[in-house]
Amino acid sequence: MPELRRMASLMPRVTSRALAMRPESRRILFVAAFVAIVGATVLGAGVAYLGDALTHASREAMSRAAFFGGLGAFVAAVLGVAAVPVARRMLIARADVQLVEAASPLHPLIKRLMIEAPGTYTHSLAVASLAEAGADAIGADPLVARVGAYYHDVGKLRRPCYFFENLADGENPHDLAKPSLSALIITSHVADGLHLAEEYELPDRIVDVIREHHGTSLVRYFFHKAAQADATVAESDYRYHGGRPSSREAALVMLADGCEAAVRALKQPDAGSVATAVRFVIDDKLQDGQLDSAGMKEGDIPVITETFVHMLVNMLHARCEYPQTITGPRKEAYADQHREPSRS
Ligand SMILES: [Fe+2]
Ligand SMILES: [Fe+2]
Repeated sequence: MPELRRMASLMPRVTSRALAMRPESRRILFVAAFVAIVGATVLGAGVAYLGDALTHASREAMSRAAFFGGLGAFVAAVLGVAAVPVARRMLIARADVQLVEAASPLHPLIKRLMIEAPGTYTHSLAVASLAEAGADAIGADPLVARVGAYYHDVGKLRRPCYFFENLADGENPHDLAKPSLSALIITSHVADGLHLAEEYELPDRIVDVIREHHGTSLVRYFFHKAAQADATVAESDYRYHGGRPSSREAALVMLADGCEAAVRALKQPDAGSVATAVRFVIDDKLQDGQLDSAGMKEGDIPVITETFVHMLVNMLHARCEYPQTITGPRKEAYADQHREPSRS
């Protein structure tokens, strides 16, 4: 009896853990528990029937068989619920294995990205390094951030030449397209990515990152281009429809994506312009409400900003301005920042 009482006291905790799971996993477990209960009940009834058939026994014998059958069903149900944490751990372990498998550069979808959209592939690697470093810095899941970044733009495989990073010099198909069509092509890489994720059976958390990495952001360039020709154009027609990031990892990929693209567009990246670009992108996403559902903790944003600036300045080191080329007031600021400790 004390054992039963202890198990009963565990039930709310077990249930709350089960409720904290992802919807897919929760569904699987509840279905499994339901099946276990129904199966055990049917088994119990079968035992009762069999017992009666074998012994042609009296009503007492039948009652006894039914009682033990029912007891068996109850025990099976309790065991089923108690097995939830174990099953959850197994599911998490399985999900981690799937993530590690997806992280392999030999994954067929990664190989396709490398061959068919090399610009997007290179961009995704850079975003992955940033997102992983950000996740490490704020205590989010670095594996989900990294692997999510690898796949965030796989939807561009459908029409790679319509995306800036894959454009050859002097050729831009958007020059010939209406802004509304360009925006449609750009935003549909999210839905195309989701189709590929389903086809290649990517893990759920990676699918979330693909869906949410642009949130409901505005495709600014084509919106402004359209608004110049028609001031009544609806802003909502130029927004993504993936849904805002629902996790810190998806938010990190969103921010890393925007920062990497902004810094790559700098003509003369130096530490100052990189920091300005990173702050601009992150402030913009914050003010647009894109991070409202991501579960960011207090202090995450400054840490992410600092990490991204540090990473990007180092990643772009070869492209950064040499001190000799810096002139005017910025030269003094640079000298202040880079003065050797022994001379300061
Ligand atoms: Fe994207
Ligand atoms: Fe991207």
